[in-house]
Amino acid sequence: MIVAYLLNYLNKTTTAGNMEQKLSPQTMMNETQKLIELVLELKKQRNAVILVHNYQRPEMFRIADYIGDSLGLSVKAAETDADVILFCGVKFMAETAKVLSPKKTVLLPTLDAGCSLADMATVQSLKEVKKQYPDAAVVSYVNTTADVKALSDICCTSANAVEVVNSLPHKQVIFLPDKNLGRYVQQHTDKEVILWDGYCFVHDKLDSDTLMEFKQRYPDAKIVAHPECRDDLLKLADHVCGTGGMAKFAKLDGSKNFIVVTECGMTEKLRQDVPNKNFLSFCNICPYMKSTTLPLVVRSLIHNVHEIKLPRDVIVNAGKAIDRMLAISKNAT
Ligand code: 13P
Ligand code: SF4
Repeated sequence: MIVAYLLNYLNKTTTAGNMEQKLSPQTMMNETQKLIELVLELKKQRNAVILVHNYQRPEMFRIADYIGDSLGLSVKAAETDADVILFCGVKFMAETAKVLSPKKTVLLPTLDAGCSLADMATVQSLKEVKKQYPDAAVVSYVNTTADVKALSDICCTSANAVEVVNSLPHKQVIFLPDKNLGRYVQQHTDKEVILWDGYCFVHDKLDSDTLMEFKQRYPDAKIVAHPECRDDLLKLADHVCGTGGMAKFAKLDGSKNFIVVTECGMTEKLRQDVPNKNFLSFCNICPYMKSTTLPLVVRSLIHNVHEIKLPRDVIVNAGKAIDRMLAISKNAT
């Protein structure tokens, strides 16, 4: 009966946004609950594991087997005996899940879940830059497509980028695609870091003057910022880390109040994880991250869309770049 209800619903609308305009808050809560029950039923039927990135809509946390950062989720899923991985995140993350679990079916509920930062590095552009710097190692941030990872010497996350770069024997490193994270690495290494001209618009447009005003209103709050933010903003931060490190820092630090500088979904997640502390948001919304909704997850599990498929050589070579990182750094998140 619930399936009939849902298919009827899916025929009427394709996005939760449409639904929000039409239904009262109480009806919406009931609809959300029914959708969650349906997802959990379908998940069991398909022996699926559901991965939910920290930036997702809050209702997505309720269907998750694992909630976490971009790399940690794929590592966790690879350790399970699930047949299907459903990734509530963005496409490069689902590709990483496929690289680490090539025998599993990997599903991304919507193709709108891209990432403009990952799209700023293409295979063609990387080949050209490699020709200019033949002796340089290529270090790819996990926010890259699998085919770009496959052309790289090693991957890194925002948590271990400095450690990865410093571990290399090369004097020169091409760091892609995020210039803000690359600049942060530059400040913590003696190597020559060749920056890629890429950035995440969600983080890059957060500005330091406004953050400073915010901080003046809450002087005792510690600032925790994602390294995809610009350099002038990172200089104001008490702690710089990826999404996986934020809850750890908040739990261990003596402060009661934090200003969280990243995508807006993270603050909601921190409030759940560390309920005895206060989190203020200095954030922007990532539309790619918010494009995944419960109805789309249901459709994905019923119709097997959109399945991530990668050429064999890409899986093998991207896997080598990720494994090299994991071998030198246990501190991936
Ligand atoms: P994390 O790797 O820190 O989860 O960040 C992912 C991301 O998309 C940042 O914008
Ligand atoms: Fe990509 Fe930025 Fe969105 Fe992360 S927040 S998925 S880097 S656009």
